[in-house]
Amino acid sequence: MSGFDQTRGIQAATGGSGQSLPRRRLFVKSYGCQMNVYDSQRMADVLAPEGIAETARVEDADVVILNTCHVRERAAEKVFSELGKLRALKAARASAGRETKIIVAGCVAQAEGEEIFRRQKAVDIVVGPQSYHRLPELLRRAGTSREVLDTDFPAASKFDHLAGPSPRQIRKRGVSAFVTVQEGCDKFCTFCVVPYTRGAEASRPVEGIVAEVEMLAAAGVREVSLIGQNVNAYHGRTPEGAFASLSELTARIAEVPGIARIRYTTSHPGDMDASLIKAHRDQARLMPFLHLPVQSGSDKILAAMNRRHTRTGYIALVAEIRGARPDIALSSDFIAGFPGESEEDFAATLDLIEKVDFANAFSFKYSPRAGTPAAALQDQIPEFVKSERLARLQTLLDEQRRTFNRKMAGCTLDVLIEKPGRHAGQIAGKSPYLQAVQIEGSLDRIGEVVRAEIVSAGANSLFGRLLPDRAARGAPR
Ligand code: SAH
Ligand code: SF4
Ligand code: F3S
Repeated sequence: MSGFDQTRGIQAATGGSGQSLPRRRLFVKSYGCQMNVYDSQRMADVLAPEGIAETARVEDADVVILNTCHVRERAAEKVFSELGKLRALKAARASAGRETKIIVAGCVAQAEGEEIFRRQKAVDIVVGPQSYHRLPELLRRAGTSREVLDTDFPAASKFDHLAGPSPRQIRKRGVSAFVTVQEGCDKFCTFCVVPYTRGAEASRPVEGIVAEVEMLAAAGVREVSLIGQNVNAYHGRTPEGAFASLSELTARIAEVPGIARIRYTTSHPGDMDASLIKAHRDQARLMPFLHLPVQSGSDKILAAMNRRHTRTGYIALVAEIRGARPDIALSSDFIAGFPGESEEDFAATLDLIEKVDFANAFSFKYSPRAGTPAAALQDQIPEFVKSERLARLQTLLDEQRRTFNRKMAGCTLDVLIEKPGRHAGQIAGKSPYLQAVQIEGSLDRIGEVVRAEIVSAGANSLFGRLLPDRAARGAPR
């Protein structure tokens, strides 16, 4: 789930039903994982009926939300530097007679709570991920009182409160969309804040997910990525009162007319059950690309991380998955310099990477997070050692990614066309492995899964030639 930061680059919309309410504008910036991106859309959905419409320009915003990430120190610090800039903006707008409400949401909000008001006085509202449905009420309260805080973990799941996106919102989502199906984590890896910021593992009921996917499909979405901090631990209620696993959920979603591709992220190796592996063999709509974080290749470090899997267990699991779906490609997350990591432990990680061969990866220096067990361990690794190991990790992972991409030359791939290409006469889409593909073709192919021969493969993107249609295995049209 290692992501990038995203500003919701959406044009000022014309929605909002509150005739008597003054029209206000909203600017949302997301940090961290895809769940934050999804939640940011949800917050915009919740505020739209209040007459608060999105703008892509922060200067125009009466309400600014920073949807924050706490996973590593740098992610958290970015928020405070952004808040410093917002404070100046708020002051400038105030002198022009315009009020600005600044909201901190997401995992920093959950983890730091009131501390945020202490560090940055310009903040009006701090709201944790379980309380987004209460945003309209919190904004009203912020009209009369300073420092409104809501970081409760309510007994009822927020899934029960948050309505699905409106059709107006859905129209902006293009051909590929995220759908949150699970939130929170019970694994407690010793380095990780997520179980504290997102709380206990909770799954969304099947019906609500399917209804959302149906709405998305009706609006032109062809690919859904099911997201959760620990998505393969999914066990959502069915209308009959039973529990569905992730493989059962994907089977149900595969029946939704129009949905050609299904992905899911992020998975824990311990929850890759036999039925999910079998789904990769039998379910053509499930894309052959799996993000399966391993973190380390050393058993000693994996145990200290409380990962609940071993090196050989991971390698055997990958072999089993590849047995079920030979063309599957793997992606992973790695941490360099976890406390106590010796040169030998690190070499075991490099060796695991050589053995598994990854198509893509995210790697990070270990970042001690207050309140997590690993932060209190002796044997913290010096910064320069972490940096040096990270560089070696990234060199190897980069090499594997480039090789994987180059191997595509001469292959035939199914490409989901998403948008106009870089140049006139080109269209751009994604391969089953999430590689960007440029093809000569007309814009009316957007939303289709086309067959393309890859004529050249750069390190980061592929160039293809359209082939005649056929009923493609692996990507039904
Ligand atoms: N739920 C996912 C990952 C959540 S966080 C999973 O189980 O894999 C995304 C990634 O951030 C993790 O996989 C890990 O590689 C990295 N990460 C989390 N905490 C970290 C820390 N304290 N220091 C460095 N990297 C960390
Ligand atoms: Fe964090 Fe581990 Fe849970 Fe992933 S499985 S969210 S790394 S505690
Ligand atoms: Fe970051 Fe929270 Fe996601 S800590 S990675 S935004 S779950």
